[in-house]
Amino acid sequence: MKCKVCRDRAVIQVRRHNANFCAPHFVDHIHRQVEKTIHHYRMFRPSDRLVLGVSGGKDSLALWDILTELGYRVDGVYLHLGIGEYSSDSLRFTQEFAESRGLDLKIVDLPTDVGFSIPQAAAATARTACSACGLSKRYILNQVAAEGGYDVLVMGHNLDDEAATLFGNVLQWNPEYLARQAPVLPADDGGLIRKVKPLIRVAERETAAYAVIRGIEYEVEECPMAAGNTINRYKEWLNALEEQSPGLKANFLFGFLDRGQPAFASHRGSVELAACAECGQPTTGEVCAFCRLRRQTLVKISSRAAS
Ligand code: FES
Ligand code: ZN
Ligand code: ZN
Repeated sequence: MKCKVCRDRAVIQVRRHNANFCAPHFVDHIHRQVEKTIHHYRMFRPSDRLVLGVSGGKDSLALWDILTELGYRVDGVYLHLGIGEYSSDSLRFTQEFAESRGLDLKIVDLPTDVGFSIPQAAAATARTACSACGLSKRYILNQVAAEGGYDVLVMGHNLDDEAATLFGNVLQWNPEYLARQAPVLPADDGGLIRKVKPLIRVAERETAAYAVIRGIEYEVEECPMAAGNTINRYKEWLNALEEQSPGLKANFLFGFLDRGQPAFASHRGSVELAACAECGQPTTGEVCAFCRLRRQTLVKISSRAAS
């Protein structure tokens, strides 16, 4: 197996690009994929203030490295979810990465700063852990970005994440979700910060390979709360199809973004946003979903403590 560029020994095969790469040319390839995505979707300009949601996993740390190598200055924000060793290890990998490169990292500790952990929220409400976690991440990361005066919130969703989410949205034929599943979610007057996903052209196994080649230490363990979740199941199914037809995942996602999504444009922004009565962040109801989650969870925690 030889590198497509230099004919040296290849270390990775990327079947959907019909190419093999040696380590340095694979790194170049990934940088080009991300740069192309940033320019194609006009994600941000060099003058924009960027903050990246970092989890300590391969995708967000690889993306932090890629953007830094491409010359962007990006700060990081880490949300501690209170999921035992998984959270403490993820935090350690994130801190070590930021320190080794002199990058700014903000840390929000959900149990200490807000009063509950994800396992507590899942136990106190009808939400699954992943749903409580997703809601908390969306809320807190947007809040940190807004309060920090950032122009853009950068997220590390990769090709597999986006294809699996699209698959779920298609199975449900949910027009609002399909309209909003985009590489760029524009800022909104109500306080939503522009959100972008520069890693959507890079598959999960490629971010893992990139991290290994670049010597990035990351949390390898899957989140214990996410075992058997629906998105992971969709990823497995899509991987089985990809095995038979390389490029299928990318065609599915980019075909939708180019040709399918315009059909759902009228559903974009069809819901009016107003300020949450409790926290002031944008919401469709009177009190936002995060404030309701927090209230319900804190009530349950204090009633347990009292009994
Ligand atoms: Fe969110 Fe596991 S990382 S529930
Ligand atoms: Zn090469
Ligand atoms: Zn609120």
